[in-house]
Amino acid sequence: MKINIKRFNQANEPQKFNNEFEVSNTNLLQAFNEIKKEHDETLTYRCGCKSGVCGSCAVRVNGVERLACKTNINENDVIEPIKNSKVIKDLVVDVSHETLLIEKTNSFMQDNSDEEIEQKDINKIDRQSNCILCNSCYSSCPVYEANKSFLGPFALSRALRYSNDKKMANNDLIIESIQSNGIWDCTLCGACTMVCPQGIDPKMDILQLQGLASQKGYTNPYQATFDSNMGFDMSDMGFDPNGSF
Ligand code: SF4
Ligand code: SF4
Ligand code: FES
Repeated sequence: MKINIKRFNQANEPQKFNNEFEVSNTNLLQAFNEIKKEHDETLTYRCGCKSGVCGSCAVRVNGVERLACKTNINENDVIEPIKNSKVIKDLVVDVSHETLLIEKTNSFMQDNSDEEIEQKDINKIDRQSNCILCNSCYSSCPVYEANKSFLGPFALSRALRYSNDKKMANNDLIIESIQSNGIWDCTLCGACTMVCPQGIDPKMDILQLQGLASQKGYTNPYQATFDSNMGFDMSDMGFDPNGSF
């Protein structure tokens, strides 16, 4: 079958081009390997575990974020790098923002409590702990696309994971860190949830963080704009920031 790969080569002078390849493998990662071995050794992509665990092989297939190693392809599929990150070459993007965003949210163990941990406590943070940092959610996020300072889906899911961790003596710093460019800037569109290969629900995590923040006395800085009834008519803008409630 034929697949089309959108490519980019910064090294020769920045240029974008498409390549059509004939492949026999139906698994996308195996198709990449086939292309590299038999057609074009310069094709550049990333993979580690080959089994959906490392998150390195995320690409877009017909505009939807997928892990190449877990994806079967069809005739004329279009493969592109994930969005919202700088492309280094072909399907490889710069993901160095991950560390920065985690640092900004302070989502790591700080002061430890002496609490005993039971299975129910592990269950509370289990889902978010399964994040493989594949960046699919960042690629799909319309807010992150417009504002690279937005803390975004996985960093906020991680913020909830550490906020709910019984070993955290105090989560005040996390909740404070996610007020600006964070939980209140998310439009709750759910795009991140749709593409997560780990079944994580960043949209719901962000809603929970909004609840936690409210309990600590924080308020939505945009609330006044939405509720003030100042005659600002959004009806013909086709955009409702709370449309997915
Ligand atoms: S729900 Fe929020 S974080 Fe997720 S994609 Fe939409 S705007 Fe981004
Ligand atoms: S939350 Fe899901 S989509 Fe986002 S980086 Fe983690 S595993 Fe990938
Ligand atoms: S190669 Fe590790 S998730 Fe695909």
